[in-house]
Order: sequence, then structure tokens, then C-alpha cells
Amino acid sequence: MNEDYWNRRDLIAAGLALGITPNVALPTENTQMINKTIPGSGESLPVIGLGTYEVFDVESSQEELDLRRSIVEILTTSGGTLLDTSPMYNRAEKVIGDLIESGTAREPLFLATKVWTNGRDAGIRQMQRSFDLMQTERIDLMQVHNLRDTAVHMDTIREWQDADRIRYSGLTHYAAGAHIDLGREMQSFKPDFIQVNYSLGEREAEDRLLPMAQELGVAVLINRPFQAGRLFSAVAGKPLPDWAHDFAASWGQFFLKFIISHPAVTCVIPATSKTSHMIDNLGAGTGILPDPAMRKRMIDYFASL
Ligand SMILES: NC(=O)c1ccc[n+]([C@@H]2O[C@H](COP(=O)([O-])OP(=O)(O)OC[C@H]3O[C@@H](n4cnc5c(N)ncnc54)[C@H](OP(=O)(O)O)[C@@H]3O)[C@@H](O)[C@H]2O)c1
Repeated sequence: MNEDYWNRRDLIAAGLALGITPNVALPTENTQMINKTIPGSGESLPVIGLGTYEVFDVESSQEELDLRRSIVEILTTSGGTLLDTSPMYNRAEKVIGDLIESGTAREPLFLATKVWTNGRDAGIRQMQRSFDLMQTERIDLMQVHNLRDTAVHMDTIREWQDADRIRYSGLTHYAAGAHIDLGREMQSFKPDFIQVNYSLGEREAEDRLLPMAQELGVAVLINRPFQAGRLFSAVAGKPLPDWAHDFAASWGQFFLKFIISHPAVTCVIPATSKTSHMIDNLGAGTGILPDPAMRKRMIDYFASL
């Protein structure tokens, strides 16, 4: 595991410049973003990224863009890089492109998007549109969304990898009912990444998929880390247990640390439309990670709620 320096003072200063103050406890020790290694390349990736489903599906008005710019800049200022999007998320790719066109730096970002259609020609058109909308000449990760026409799109993705237009390939799903199919396609197509749902409330990926990804040397992105926000309802009104304060300052950090402490997980992509939640989520990318005994305690505690 590698680590890059996270300058907390810079982050707070950036937050203040953007008109926000961190309203959650940031870790006071060990202010470094944890990175994990992409098995296929050895490149390191910061463990906290940003999902864009719904939260980036907005009009490109000044006000909406300014808020997303703040969220993305808080991510990158703290050493994060990965933005996950899809043509299925309506205006999200365009919003990312509009941010880049109007000053958000492209260079630190690891742009992950998806192809979600049937047929080779439609896939090519959709992937080209993602390049155009996001105003980028290279996409870091192109994933087949929900295993839709995998074989066809993986051929195109491989060709574009050879042409250096796409850096990594991936397959995604978000539902436990599709884990068997995702595992089978991971074995057949050997993508660089899979993306799958995993959280304290949805632990099915532990059974086969995560060990399989480790064995095959496939990087893992985790979606739905809060079950689209439902996990917060489960703990509403409950204080964080005392024993969790060594590694988490909030429920959000508790949920995310459970995920990133799994050895197969490379990066988690919580979605947010709030700068304060982005800062909170980034706090999970620093400090100590729960060990197996602590993970067991977290599981038992969550099950008892
Ligand atoms: N098939 C696929 O490939 C697939 C499927 C599902 C998801 N995904 C990807 O995974 C990403 C994440 O999944 P998701 O968007 O379904 O849901 P999620 O990340 O599990 O949850 C997002 C919800 O949590 C809230 N939230 C975020 N941080 C918080 C914090 N610190 N404290 C309290 N609330 C917080 C957000 O509200 P606020 O806006 O108020 O912060 C939002 O309502 C997606 O955006 C997408 O990029 C991919």
C-alpha cells in the first residue's frame, strides 16, 4: 500500500476559500490519503473517489457548476482522483466536461465512465460521445455498464486501449443477483477493473466476487457504499460507538472504512451533492483501517441495530 501526502491545512484553506468550513472532524493524526495498487499495472489509486449518479445530473448553470467544482476540487486537493460516471446518468458527463472546460484541471482526475447500449456501432457512438461530452482525449477507465453486451463492447474497449484512447477496461453491476454473472464475465474477459455493490448492508460480494478479483488480479471499485443513503437511516439518532472513534469520526467514515479495509477493494465511490459530505467521506481515506477483528465487530454491531 502506497501513500501520498495529504496537506490538511491546504484542504481547510481551500474549503474556506470556497466559502465552506469543515463541519465534521477531520483526522488530526496521519493526514495522508491511503492509496491502493491497481494489480494489472502497479499504478496507485487513492481509496476515496466520487460517484456522480443523480448528484451530477443537473443543469450547467453557474450555481450548479460552482457547487460541483467545489466538490471535485475538495476531492483533488485532498489527494483523491477518481470520478465515476455513465451515459446513463443523463447530464453528468456533460457537467464534468463543462467543469473541465471552465477551469477544473483535467490532469489530476481519473475519469471512469461506462458504455450502456447494445451493438458495436451504438457502443462506438456512445463512447465517442463520452469523450466529447467530458472534453477529454483519453478516458482512464471505460466500463461495460451492468454487463450490457459485454463481449461486443470489450472488443472495442481493447482496440481503444491499443490506440491509447482508453487506459483501463472494466465491468460493472450494482445488484447481488448479478454477482454470479459478473464473476463469470470477469473470468472470461479479464478486465482491469470490476465495479460492484458492497457495504455493511450488502455484503454478498465477500462470498465469491471479492476473493475472485484478488485471485485474478483485478482492481475493484465499490458502488452503493451507503446503499444510496439507506445506511444513514439505519443509524439515525444513534451515536457512533466509543470503540469506533479510533478510526472514524462519523457514520459515513465508519461505513467507508469497513469497505476500504477489505483487501480486495481498490477504491470506493460515494456520491454526494454536498461539500461537507465530500470532506466527511475523504476523512475515511486517512488514518488507521480496521483490522479483521474490528471488521467483525463492525458487522456484529451493525447487525444488532
Ligand atoms: N451499475 C453501476 O455501474 C452502478 C450502480 C449504482 C451506483 N454506481 C456508482 O456508484 C456511485 C455511488 O452509489 P449511489 O450513488 O447509488 O449511492 P451511495 O454513494 O451509496 O449514496 C449516496 C447518498 O448518500 C448521501 N451521502 C453521501 N455522503 C454522505 C455523508 N458523508 N453523510 C451523509 N450522507 C451522505 C448522499 O446524499 P448527499 O447528496 O446529501 O450527500 C446520497 O443521497 C454512483 O453515484 C455511481 O457512480 C454504479
